[in-house]
Formats: sequence, C-alpha cells, structure tokens
Amino acid sequence: MKDGTQFDEFNRIIDRSGTYSSKWDRYSGSEILPFWVADMDFATPDFIRLAIQQRLDHPVLGYTRQPTELNQAFLSWLKRSQNWEAKEEWIVWIPSVVAGLNIAAKSLAKPNGSIAVPTPIYYPFLDVPRNAGQQAKRIPLVKSNNKWVMDFDRLEKACDKNTSLLLLCNPQNPTGRMYSRDELDQLAEFCIDHNIHLCSDEIHCSLQLDPNLDHTSIASLDDVIGQKTITLFSITKTYNIPGLSAAVAVIPNDVIRNNFITTQRGLSTDMGPLTLAANLSALNDESEWVPSLLQYLRNNHKLVLETLGQRMTPVEGTYLAWIDLQDLNLKQPARTLEKYGIGLSEGEAFGSPGYVRFNFACPKPILVEGLSRLANALAELERRL
Ligand SMILES: Cc1ncc(COP(=O)(O)O)c(C=O)c1O
Repeated sequence: MKDGTQFDEFNRIIDRSGTYSSKWDRYSGSEILPFWVADMDFATPDFIRLAIQQRLDHPVLGYTRQPTELNQAFLSWLKRSQNWEAKEEWIVWIPSVVAGLNIAAKSLAKPNGSIAVPTPIYYPFLDVPRNAGQQAKRIPLVKSNNKWVMDFDRLEKACDKNTSLLLLCNPQNPTGRMYSRDELDQLAEFCIDHNIHLCSDEIHCSLQLDPNLDHTSIASLDDVIGQKTITLFSITKTYNIPGLSAAVAVIPNDVIRNNFITTQRGLSTDMGPLTLAANLSALNDESEWVPSLLQYLRNNHKLVLETLGQRMTPVEGTYLAWIDLQDLNLKQPARTLEKYGIGLSEGEAFGSPGYVRFNFACPKPILVEGLSRLANALAELERRL
C-alpha cells in the first residue's frame, strides 16, 4: 500500500456528535478538543462493520450462545499475535477486562488480605482492592534510564504473607511501558517466592508502538508462573470497538479457574449477537489494518514526543502519553489545560498528581492542533513560574 491510501482512512476527521460518545460529549458545546478516554477517533474497520451489518440482516436479535468458533478464533489470535499456545479449557469469557480484574480479586481474596498495585495505573485498578475487601498496597513505579520500572525493594517491603494478588498492567496504562522479558522473569520469581497470585491486564498487547520490542505475556514464561496467573485480554482496544465490550480470562490452573467461574456466576451475561459478530471478525482478522494503524500511531507518537520532549518517556505500547507537569505546581493540571482548549486525563486519578495522560489516537490534523495548544499552554505556564 502506498502511504497516501494507507493513511487516508486514519486521516479522516469523523464527527462523533450525536453518538453519545463519552470522549466528545464531555466537552460538547465548547472548543475543547478531547484527548482523554482511551478510545480512538478512527473508523472501526470496514470488515467489522460489515460483519455486524450481516448479522443485522437477520431480523431476530435473541439470546446468543458463544460458539466454539469464538474460542478457536481467540486461541488462533493468541498464538498468531502473542506466540502463546493456550488450551481451550483455560479460557473464560467475561463482559469486560475491568470486570475480570474485580472477579479475579474477589475470587483470590484472603481474610485480612492485601493486593499489590504498582502505580500510576489505569484508575479502575485502584478500586479493585476495596471492591474485594482487601487492603491496597500501592507501589509507585520508578523512572530508570528514561523508563518506568517496577520497584522491587518497595514491593518486597509492601508484600507479606497476607498479600493475595498483584495487579499487573502490561503494556502499562498510563506510562506506555511494555515490560521486558527480564523484568517479567524477575516479577514472576518474586511472585513465586512470596506465593502471590498475578492478574495481568494485557488489553493493549497488540498496540506495540516500538517496533523493536515484543510484548510478552507473563503467564507464557513458564508453567510455574502460568499456574499462578490470570491473564485478561480483549480485542476491543485494537480494533476500536470498546463500545462492544467483551473480554477473556486465560486461567491455566483448574482451582483458580473454577473459583473465578464461581465468583462470576449469576453476575454477568453472555455477549450479545452484535458484540459476538464484531469480536469474531476482529479475532479472525489477518489483514493489513492493524499494521497500518500501528504505523499511523507511530507517526503520531513522533509528533507528541517532539512537542513534549523530556516531559514524557517514549511510549513502547498503547497510544497514551504520560506527561510530567509537576514543575508547574498546578493542583489539577488537566483542569488548568482545559482553559487552553485541551481535554486530558488528570494524573491524580491514576495515583500520580502532577501528571496528565494524553491519548494521541486521533487524525493527524486534530493531533497537530491539540499539540499546538498544549505547547502554547506549557510555554505560558512555564513563563508564570
Ligand atoms: C489497561 C486497561 N484495561 C482495561 C480497560 C477497559 O477495558 P474494558 O472496557 O474491557 O473493561 C482499559 C481502557 O482504557 C485499559 O486501558
């Protein structure tokens, strides 16, 4: 594909008003451009929309079972994209990844137990310990060689025999880290030594922005850590169908899986027919759509990095930039930036005040305008110091 045609569909500015878009409706009626919630302003690929339309050609939208083809499509995708050969009996379909985090925590909770949560992290993670009646042990990531890494000393101090679980997010939202195999080996060893289970959210695993890196599922390292881990996947981020929510938990250990299934019993429903059509189509996709998307996001990332420089670390995975504004001494930096026409996520919600998160999955003209507003805002706020 030539560059022009390859990127035409991603360059197209799509008016999302009238669709109850969470991202755009927050600022409807104002001039603020939204770069907050993590969905993309790109069209869902044609082949997925066609699959939904074909399903709509049948007039009955009744209760729908999850067919074996869905499991097979997921397992093939997992092998193809993550090089992990899982077994069909390990997988449990769930309504969403966030539901999976909470089900996992409840099913593994201990009396007087605690859950380790490396921060900053996607904000629903921070509620998981409380939801499961467990104490939260927040462990801040630290910056080393311009990368956010796990602080094993703090982890060691924070965890004890009552720690039931560690919540991992890989690739990491909001820092954009894709943990290396060595780091995951070290974390696996830590969890095995301390008898701590892991729940690993890998929803962003296909959004590899750094082409020189590979995403590794911690559970795929070896059978010992596999037996202690619940891994959560969803195809919805990659194909921009998060409104058709569905996710899957991969749980090799029989006891953990049965507890997980028991905990979610009666609380979740099967996927609806349109969600099924969309997810099946996405899981079976082997077209050039994702490689083109990644190339587009990499170009966007370059622009973001050029504008933000040292205020951010390079994004290895996800389409989210984590921006350090601590030096500006603003109580709520995202709120302040709204006055300059940019809608970002407040770092405080992720456990790190003084930071903001910028979602750069949008057409280039919107990104360029947003970055120009951000650069002007930062220049003015720096002058005021
Ligand atoms: C790391 C992470 N996990 C989970 C989710 C949400 O997934 P779901 O809608 O399946 O709960 C998001 C959405 O932004 C995310 O970034």
